[in-house]
Amino acid sequence: MTCHYCNEEAVAYSYGKGYCREHFNMYFRGKVRSVIDKFQIKGKIAVALSGGKDSLALFHALHFLKMDLIPFYINLGIPSYSPASEKACEKICHDLGYTLQKIDLADYGISLEEHEKPCSVCGTVKRYLMNRFAHENGCKYVATGHNLSDIVTFALHNLANANIMNFRGNRPFLPGREEYNMVAKIKPLFYLTDKECMNYTSINNLEYVKEKCPFSREAPTLKIKKWVHAMEEEMPGMMLNMAKSFWRLEEKMDDEIKLNRCSICGYPSYGRICKFCRIAGRSKGK
Ligand code: AMP
Ligand code: FES
Ligand code: ZN
Ligand code: ZN
Repeated sequence: MTCHYCNEEAVAYSYGKGYCREHFNMYFRGKVRSVIDKFQIKGKIAVALSGGKDSLALFHALHFLKMDLIPFYINLGIPSYSPASEKACEKICHDLGYTLQKIDLADYGISLEEHEKPCSVCGTVKRYLMNRFAHENGCKYVATGHNLSDIVTFALHNLANANIMNFRGNRPFLPGREEYNMVAKIKPLFYLTDKECMNYTSINNLEYVKEKCPFSREAPTLKIKKWVHAMEEEMPGMMLNMAKSFWRLEEKMDDEIKLNRCSICGYPSYGRICKFCRIAGRSKGK
């Protein structure tokens, strides 16, 4: 197949169309740009790099869209996996001319290995540190590499487990709230699937970490993701429609969530003391 836009050989395919390298890059960055434009994103963006394909693709695309970026990486101290991830983040920053900012979980006295459920602790500490890093570095936004496949899978997983409180993060833009030291969260890959992100990394030769996290509890979500992708094959556009529905539902839930500022660190919390401070053992005697 030749590219839909020129006579070059197609190297990537999406929704039945073939693309050459140049036109696939245009297509991919156009989808990222549509999120940026829709929410009028202007100013410094802290880009959360994990070393995985999605966050590298995100950073690369935002760089070529000439956004103002501060890339950062959270070292979770996971043997073998963390150093390999950091190396991938370092490499892309070096290639694009940035200095990677690093945060060490160990500096907060937290070791994932010591926890019974490292994966859920990991999710909490990452969310907290991302927001805190962006806030302390004067960024109005923090961008993550969640893509369309992740968003739909995550929402369905929560629905399947009757976990309505976790039914959040289903939209491309979550406004910040200065009174809670909370920066806006953006998911510029909202309109792009796993496969499209994979194509973007491979045609741009981005070296992402292939190793998997040893604590990962991905098994149930992987099954859902496989099922979602199979459905998408049969009904192209289904994932996007689902994501848009989840986005609307989440907006309707907003009013029900009451936020506070953590009485220890001052960052957002549902209770008096935030989960991060509890994990870091700061809540003893408080
Ligand atoms: P995950 O929570 O592993 O599914 O990752 C979702 C997104 O969170 C990634 O695309 C990154 O943007 C961000 N992220 C995950 N792990 C890290 C990390 N160690 N440091 C910085 N950002 C991360
Ligand atoms: Fe968080 Fe594996 S990356 S537990
Ligand atoms: Zn072309
Ligand atoms: Zn706190």
